[in-house]
Amino acid sequence: MIFDKLETDYEDYCGKIKALILGKRLSFSVVTFGCQQNEADSEKIVGILSSLGYIPCDDFTAADLVIFNTCAVRDHAEKKALSIIGRLKSAKANNPELIIGVVGCMSAEVGTVEKIKHSYPFVSFTLEPNLLHLIPEALYTYMTTKKRSFIIGRDKGDVIEGLPSVRRVKHRGWVSVMYGCNNFCSYCIVPYTRGRERSRRASDIISECEAMIRDGVREITLLGQNVNSYRSDTDFSGLLSRIAELEGDFIIRFMTSHPKDVPDSLIETISKYRGKIAPFFHLPIQSGSDRILKLMNRRYTRERYLEIIDKLRARVPDIAISTDIIVGFPGESDEDFESTLDVIRRVRYDNVYCFVYSRREGTPAARMEDTVSEGTVKERMARILDICKEIALENNKRYEGKTVRVLVDGRCDGSDNVFSARTDTNKLVHIVSDEDISGRFISVVIDKAKPFDLVGTIVK
Ligand code: 5AD
Ligand code: SF4
Repeated sequence: MIFDKLETDYEDYCGKIKALILGKRLSFSVVTFGCQQNEADSEKIVGILSSLGYIPCDDFTAADLVIFNTCAVRDHAEKKALSIIGRLKSAKANNPELIIGVVGCMSAEVGTVEKIKHSYPFVSFTLEPNLLHLIPEALYTYMTTKKRSFIIGRDKGDVIEGLPSVRRVKHRGWVSVMYGCNNFCSYCIVPYTRGRERSRRASDIISECEAMIRDGVREITLLGQNVNSYRSDTDFSGLLSRIAELEGDFIIRFMTSHPKDVPDSLIETISKYRGKIAPFFHLPIQSGSDRILKLMNRRYTRERYLEIIDKLRARVPDIAISTDIIVGFPGESDEDFESTLDVIRRVRYDNVYCFVYSRREGTPAARMEDTVSEGTVKERMARILDICKEIALENNKRYEGKTVRVLVDGRCDGSDNVFSARTDTNKLVHIVSDEDISGRFISVVIDKAKPFDLVGTIVK
């Protein structure tokens, strides 16, 4: 079901909280871990809390209300989040009125919620993803009763429209088009934490994009765990075309795509709207070995994957391609790993996000034996990084002497006149400018290519 938030008791709780905190000048902080979906969700959390009257605070250890938006994809991320949450133990002891909420994927894991319940007594509530509209309810319950709540198992697969949102970067907007995942890759916890796939109405998405463009957004990134399985009255290609037809000076990105869902029509759409749709495709392969892909339940072969890449390159010649790779999946042999390296060499990725396999309780892969030793995993990671660095430099060298359009993000940390920007192909470019060029599309000529960034000069 798709709900306008007004049909839930969201507004009631908001009204009651506003009355409770009126005139108290209470501050809030949102700490975000993990993927872009979480970044987008955090912008909504900031939107909700700001609309209640809370004031943003940069230092989470000094705020009156702290929300941790967590990630459960890898064990390392969970441990890091728990350790950072743990830093508020003394803050809570000093300020019993402090409210601490844990949302995001960790809050959908029964074991983790139990751990928080018993070992993190200073946490006021947990709330599983997709239920951000229940934040006011959780807050109000804690404020008025001091009872902790653990909201889990209430996600019925609904879509809630109309929540407020505050963008962190004025000119870049995230638009979630679908939520959840039905793919059940054998290693992945996401289908268990974010639930089944559900798509938003195309009309709601278009209205949100239009509002963003009016508000000065120059880059819209369409988000979904599996964005190209979007389906409402149109499919993902149809949705992309409708957004690309909107008036305005902006580009469209999207992520993440699953190779099993890349029909020719999608490639044609990217080609047709080249300029409006960024020539950039993030297409996770995970492994280059058919045997491992099968164990991962990925539902494509290496051959099919390479066929998609060939088609993309044929239709959009300058397209940049990035991927995700998991190293050390149970049973990954030297031969399997060599197949992955072979794909990397063939595709010549612009960027590879390489992850060490992390065993996730409750997933099918967690029951697979034959783990790869830590030493071997380290060695394999190092080999991938070496090869990728070499390829990235070669790819970037092709930009030297070229004039490209970039969207400027802002000043680099600690610098007065060095700005960071991105090409349409998502390459990081550093530019010197005495004028503040943040948030603008500008033309630069690339003077120098390095493996991970380019250096450019503004074309006057
Ligand atoms: N271990 C390591 N990496 C994982 N990913 C997802 N689950 C795991 C896991 N259990 C990676 C995949 C995915 C990216 C977002 O995270 O590569 O594409
Ligand atoms: Fe996880 Fe696979 Fe779904 Fe991506 S497509 S979220 S890796 S299950």
